[in-house]
Amino acid sequence: MSLETYLVNPGGFDGPVLVTGAGGCIGAWVLALLERAGVPVIAFDLNDDKRRPKLLMADDKVDALPWETGDIADSERVMAVVRDHDVRAIIHLAALQVPFCKADPINGAKVNVVGSVNIFEAARAQNLKRVAFASSIAAHSFFPDQPWLPTLYGAYKYCDEMIAKVYCQDWNVPSVGIRPGVVYGIGRDQGMTSKTTMAILAAAAGKPYAIPFSGAVSGLHAGEVASAFIKAVSVDRDEAVMFDHNGVPCTVKDWVDIIKEISPAAAISIEGDPLPFPAELSDEPIRAYLGDFGHLSLREGIQSTFDTFQTMLRNDVISADALR
Ligand SMILES: NC(=O)c1ccc[n+]([C@@H]2O[C@H](COP(=O)([O-])OP(=O)(O)OC[C@H]3O[C@@H](n4cnc5c(N)ncnc54)[C@H](O)[C@@H]3O)[C@@H](O)[C@H]2O)c1
Repeated sequence: MSLETYLVNPGGFDGPVLVTGAGGCIGAWVLALLERAGVPVIAFDLNDDKRRPKLLMADDKVDALPWETGDIADSERVMAVVRDHDVRAIIHLAALQVPFCKADPINGAKVNVVGSVNIFEAARAQNLKRVAFASSIAAHSFFPDQPWLPTLYGAYKYCDEMIAKVYCQDWNVPSVGIRPGVVYGIGRDQGMTSKTTMAILAAAAGKPYAIPFSGAVSGLHAGEVASAFIKAVSVDRDEAVMFDHNGVPCTVKDWVDIIKEISPAAAISIEGDPLPFPAELSDEPIRAYLGDFGHLSLREGIQSTFDTFQTMLRNDVISADALR
């Protein structure tokens, strides 16, 4: 499933890494890569649903990880977890995605904005110099003269970027913010852009599937972005920086063509308009800043995801009912 593509140097870490949103897609990959490298991890999520991490790691290894449940919007809880575990670095991923923010704007703001402030407050209290957090390409909608669709999700993420700047300026809390493009891979099963992964699952299951958008899209392997987040907290930082992490610029048609090369019988179609987010952002700045954190070509990433889905379907680890 490609974990070996993304090598983590455990020597860079001097204590536990807190991973918020640890039960999510990117969180699961971060846990798996850190655990594989022997870096101590504290997982934090709203609940103890470990389904996604268990797709990437043996059950006993996941169950052995310290796993704190709590609401990222609960300031005292977040402060206590960071303090009590003597956390040395934070990878902050907990968030609600586009449709969930639209469905419940107040909760979206609590999770996506107050949650981030809680992380920066905890980092400030513990004098942490290693904070990485997920913004999104959806933040680009709020840059001057951009054609992209503004969403509440993007507004909250943009706000997080501004909050990060001020924490560095006023309280010397440095951070690395990453704006991932469209993430795909094992564990990517929710959010409006998860459908490229669903198409791979459908092909592996021999089911027809229509990707509900067309045109340009980015293909960012979940392991690659997880690896970038880890690299971001592998040394102390002294500034607040933001980077796009696009992955491979491609089109939905390229995507379907690759799936059909891998599985000629696949019945994957394309319906709908292009996504309202940028898909051709440069990864040169993030690579220049962080150094090498691994990469898979689109062909390699889709192939490895397809192969892993096939094995999981055969072994009843997942079911094609997960298709949505
Ligand atoms: N997946 C993508 O394509 C993509 C693209 C751009 C940005 N991002 C950002 O990257 C981060 C991780 O994305 P993902 O795909 O792993 O998301 P995901 O939806 O798979 O996981 C998010 C996790 O956050 C947890 N969470 C939600 N509310 C919480 C709360 N109140 N307290 C604690 N935990 C809570 C959820 O339980 C879930 O496990 C998010 O911040 C997301 O906005 C993702």
